[in-house]
Amino acid sequence: MKTKKILLRDDEMPTRWYNVMPDIPNGLLPALDPETKEPMGPEKLGAIFPMALLEQEMSQERFIDIPEDVQDVLKIWRPSPLVRAYNLEKVLGTKSRIYFKNEGVSPVGSHKANSAVPQAYFNAKEGIKRLATETGAGQWGSALSFAAQKFGLECMVYMVRISFDQKPYRKSMMHTFGASIAASPSVKTHIGRHIREQYPDTAGSLGIAISEAIEDAAGRDDTNYALGSVLNHVVLHQSIIGLEAIKQMEIANDYPDVIVGCCGGGSNFAGLAAPYLPEYLNGKNIRFVGVEPASCPSLTMGKLAYDFGDVAQTTPLLHMHTLGHDFIPPGIHAGGLRYHGMAPIVSAMVRENIINPVKVHQLECFEAGVLFARTEGIIPAPETCHAIRGTIIEATREIDKPQTILFNFSGHGLIDMASYDKYFSGDLHNYDYPKEAVEASMANLPKI
Ligand SMILES: Cc1ncc(COP(=O)(O)O)c(C=O)c1O
Repeated sequence: MKTKKILLRDDEMPTRWYNVMPDIPNGLLPALDPETKEPMGPEKLGAIFPMALLEQEMSQERFIDIPEDVQDVLKIWRPSPLVRAYNLEKVLGTKSRIYFKNEGVSPVGSHKANSAVPQAYFNAKEGIKRLATETGAGQWGSALSFAAQKFGLECMVYMVRISFDQKPYRKSMMHTFGASIAASPSVKTHIGRHIREQYPDTAGSLGIAISEAIEDAAGRDDTNYALGSVLNHVVLHQSIIGLEAIKQMEIANDYPDVIVGCCGGGSNFAGLAAPYLPEYLNGKNIRFVGVEPASCPSLTMGKLAYDFGDVAQTTPLLHMHTLGHDFIPPGIHAGGLRYHGMAPIVSAMVRENIINPVKVHQLECFEAGVLFARTEGIIPAPETCHAIRGTIIEATREIDKPQTILFNFSGHGLIDMASYDKYFSGDLHNYDYPKEAVEASMANLPKI
């Protein structure tokens, strides 16, 4: 009998997160204070983040306990299934074995809930009453709305305008969990009003929405800010994906030669890939492939440099691959991949030649997503289509060389059907982010 799904019992869910920071060769450069350009301690950041998360952000401990209250909420959907994509293998005619970790089973449909739950928990534990955040595709906003409600917090979501207009059901989901939502740039903040004056027709960007959420949080004592990707503590929380996968691949009696994930801010890919780093450093031959859109190619065309995480230049300076903080991306449908920067952890792993970044076009991603839906039966989120496209490239490159490929199915696309409709009606186009535009925004990088 063929085993399709490998499931773990509740009591097999990891009880500790894995922190990859101490294992990255040559380490990470610290976040810098934008005013002094000195390494940033927890004091200033304490205005918008709880201490427990700041400790995780800077921790050099390899393992950090997952509090029991967090485990209880994660168990609503975790451990997530590891699935063998036999049907996809068959239509591709590949001898490779393809597995995916299905993060689409979370209450909001993606991996984002893995970090939303601990972030809400640690904020509530430190007496915070309200969280402000941004959302691109709507996935993170839904995840934080769900998690905030679980721990009795209010939630204010600044949603990138183009997604606000294109994704009405993401708004319904956030409302169901009790959150408030504003289209970003909004009139609620100084930065939002300023950008609306300058660019009245802007589609918005994650960089703008982040500035709005930070301004909101910094202006109120009862409110903290929460970020859904990029930061070290988010990558830490997502490590539960890879830790489970390691156990499940063992049960499958197989081992990944290739690990693939899509990269927006880098958290789902690092969550799956990072727990494999110790074995890679011990000599296991694993190829890590990070897939990004050609329209927002921070890893393949951006520069590794200190930059702000937002447009208003309010965040600490992070050492990361960036297209420049004032980059306003074209409105491609994978809203969750339209961020100018990349997690410092992923950026450092690219610097060390551990991760191989590739860029792909959106039309071939939707084609891959449709093929996946028709073979494996699950409709992927547009972001996830990028990982599937990357997987197909790996599985068909040397068709006779069998490899074991493990990819992260970061989320389902059931609330993204409008973008599938546009794909079917021929209204989607490929877009290469122009080199000149990258060079222009590089000129505005902070001078360190
Ligand atoms: C389904 C899905 N996958 C991937 C991403 C990209 O984010 P990250 O690179 O942090 O995993 C997003 C972001 O919104 C998403 O919604």
